[in-house]
Amino acid sequence: MSKNKQSTMLDRVVSLCKRRGFIFLSSEIYGGLASCWDYGPYGVELKRNVKSLWWNQMTRMHNDIVGLDSSILMDREVWVASGHVQSFTDPLVECKECHRRFRADDLQADKCPLCGGELTEPKKFNLMFKTYMGPVEDAGSVLYLRPETAQGIYVNFLNVMTPARQKPPFGIAQIGKAFRNEISPGNFIFRSREFEQMEMQYFIPPEEAEKWFDYWKEERMRWYIDLLGLNKERLKFRKHADDELAHYARKAVDIEYQFPFGWKELEGIHDRGNFDLSRHKEYSGVDLSYYDQDKGERYIPYIIETSGGVDRTILSVLCDAYQEEEERVVLKFHPRVAPYLAGVFPLVKKAGMPELAKRIADDLKCQFNIFHDIGGSIGRRYRRQDEVGTPYGITVDSQTLEDETVTIRDRDTMEQIRVRIDELSDVLRKLPECYGRDQGFKNFKS
Ligand code: GAP
Repeated sequence: MSKNKQSTMLDRVVSLCKRRGFIFLSSEIYGGLASCWDYGPYGVELKRNVKSLWWNQMTRMHNDIVGLDSSILMDREVWVASGHVQSFTDPLVECKECHRRFRADDLQADKCPLCGGELTEPKKFNLMFKTYMGPVEDAGSVLYLRPETAQGIYVNFLNVMTPARQKPPFGIAQIGKAFRNEISPGNFIFRSREFEQMEMQYFIPPEEAEKWFDYWKEERMRWYIDLLGLNKERLKFRKHADDELAHYARKAVDIEYQFPFGWKELEGIHDRGNFDLSRHKEYSGVDLSYYDQDKGERYIPYIIETSGGVDRTILSVLCDAYQEEEERVVLKFHPRVAPYLAGVFPLVKKAGMPELAKRIADDLKCQFNIFHDIGGSIGRRYRRQDEVGTPYGITVDSQTLEDETVTIRDRDTMEQIRVRIDELSDVLRKLPECYGRDQGFKNFKS
């Protein structure tokens, strides 16, 4: 695909997101705050589903992983100990002619890509946002907005381990906002300055590092394919070379997705050794080692980290789902992540059909996310739901009034089946589990 065509595909996804209420630029009526994004009614449901899918898989399906929700603002020393004050930098260059700034490692040549001007020597630019705590704005009140959620987990290692009755190997999972003053944000929600992370830190005996690194690498790839339903041809691992490892990492592999703008990182799996707990032990003066009673040994646990971005995952889900067909644009989301599982419609606005459709929708709403719409022609209602990715359309028609059955339309194939109203909730529970893109009802047995 040509570069132009690829970027057009991203532009179309961005335009659909705006038009259909998924994602908007922050503060748009004031001209828009670059690189910050607001999630609208459909976007917020999609985001909740992605996060729940991660949370359920990582915590509820693993007896040895518990959750945490730590604060965004933390003691300034945390970021000194973590190495972020010293090393969380990107090389910044400025054009001497137009004064635009760029990440030196993003540039192909040593000239300004916009005006061809001469560039300054690279200098280190720290990506952490600064703020002040309390009424006095001086050096002593400086705090940082966290650039990763991980540090909230490390500093709570002891607080969590004992009451949760865990011991290494065990993990702590957290979903939350992170902030980075990126020099060159872009590609829609791929790189922004405010974003969300889904991170899990797995504390282990040092000799088990290789085993758990391999385990989490496979486990996380499986989540993107089996649970999120991404096309596996568009996913791959990329191992970090020694000279690109982050300051804390002994070993790292990225899970990459083939976005319209190329293969890019979705998630990093890192072997962080005992860097984090050793540093926090040193800077806080609190002993963060663990005494293994069975082995009679004391050690500082190693950490295997899985660190994914919520927004990047959402962009991959959107790009994977987006399809233009002859007569429609459709988002072929997996039913597990689709903002709404089903829409309920009356075929026409008469003969008691709207009232019955509303009753059916109300009954289903306590179990599923259901969209109920009576406006416009049935064809238009289906198209609207195709564009926001609703997998199933339930329609009340004249036959419903005779035999208490409704049609269910499959979004991908537009195939229809008839089911009894009193079987609907069972059917809607089963359908996502036997979903295959463009398979219609092939794998479904009522
Ligand atoms: N705790 C390790 C850590 O933060 P990272 O590779 O810097 O590692 C992890 O970030 C994930 O966070 C990335 O794989 C990406 O999904 C997401 N992420 C990082 N910076 C981002 C940004 N500026 N905008 C959106 N997502 C970002």
